[in-house]
Amino acid sequence: MEDLNRLEKEAKGEIAKTASDAVLTNIRTKWLGRKGRLTMVLRGLKDLPEEDRRRVGQEANRLKKTLEDLFEERRVEFREKERVAKEKRVDVTLPGRKMPIGHLHPLTRALREINSIFQSLGFSVVGGPEIETEWYNFDALNIPADHPARDMWDTFWLKTKDRKQKLLLRTHTSPVQIRYMKKHQPPFRIVIPGKVFRHEATDATHEMEFHQLEGLMVDKGISIAHFKHVIGHFFEKFFETKAKKIEVSLRPSFFPFTEPSFEVWISCIFCAPRATARRTSRKGCSVCKYSGGLEVAGAGMVHPTVFHNAGLNPKDVQGFAFGFGVERLVMMKYNIPDIRLFHSSDPRFLRQF
Ligand code: FA5
Repeated sequence: MEDLNRLEKEAKGEIAKTASDAVLTNIRTKWLGRKGRLTMVLRGLKDLPEEDRRRVGQEANRLKKTLEDLFEERRVEFREKERVAKEKRVDVTLPGRKMPIGHLHPLTRALREINSIFQSLGFSVVGGPEIETEWYNFDALNIPADHPARDMWDTFWLKTKDRKQKLLLRTHTSPVQIRYMKKHQPPFRIVIPGKVFRHEATDATHEMEFHQLEGLMVDKGISIAHFKHVIGHFFEKFFETKAKKIEVSLRPSFFPFTEPSFEVWISCIFCAPRATARRTSRKGCSVCKYSGGLEVAGAGMVHPTVFHNAGLNPKDVQGFAFGFGVERLVMMKYNIPDIRLFHSSDPRFLRQF
């Protein structure tokens, strides 16, 4: 019986120390195999005196059962460990998983493209503040407080206590014309891309926050012919019409800061790249609403009062200015039906660019 107790201690110690399934199998054979140490004890029972045989036999069989259970327990433990390790194993030969990478917003890309086209014509890209004073946004541009033309721009006014100047979110990029002309002597040609804000209801072609691109070229003897050439070249590059020439036509319009003022129309880039709006008035497509032409900008020759307000003598210099909505141009280029898609953050929309 004492021997059995010793064997039990020894066997349990070995089982506890075992580190792998393979070693466990060896130890099992050592104890319970055909010539195992416990097996030999059980076989030797028959040599014991009758009175001891039963007691020792019972104890030896209990020990056999205990060891079998312990071996099984550890085996299950090893198998489970192995399964988990297999799952975690990294197969370094597998091809890498592609991480989705983002890209620039279509408007950012368009703005960069537009800037670079104008830069290739010698224009500089200039910026100005989005929070403007009433004077720069309106008065300096020949739109005094009581002028009905102020209704053309629905304005977000800012609360400005104790300030001489009323502040607003600029309704167009034109105030930067004044800021630039006050600091620079002609000749110069600049474009001013930027965000503008209008207190308007939104719809498929109107946003409260959108981008404009202003252009200004001032020198001696600048005429509408210069303007037509610059703007025509720009649209050909931007719309990538390649061999087809875009025709630019100007229609009378009104802006307080230009005289004369005009709407700029181009022949429809989708259906009538060679025809003017008037000539194809009965043809066209859904993009140009069957007119053959597209309105793309407001423009005009810089008004003498504007030159005066910016500290320049209108007798010495002439200039043209224009302003267009960047979203509207991008909508035309890619046939985008709704301006609100730009700010929708919808990946299905953004992934297309
Ligand atoms: C102006 O804002 C003038 N400052 C443009 C100008 C500059 C004229 C220099 C002459 C000389 P207008 O309000 O028309 O003009 O706006 C210009 C362009 O901005 C429009 O042709 C249109 O493309 C775009 N636009 C106007 N309102 C919105 C709006 N709510 N959402 C999106 N685009 C708009």
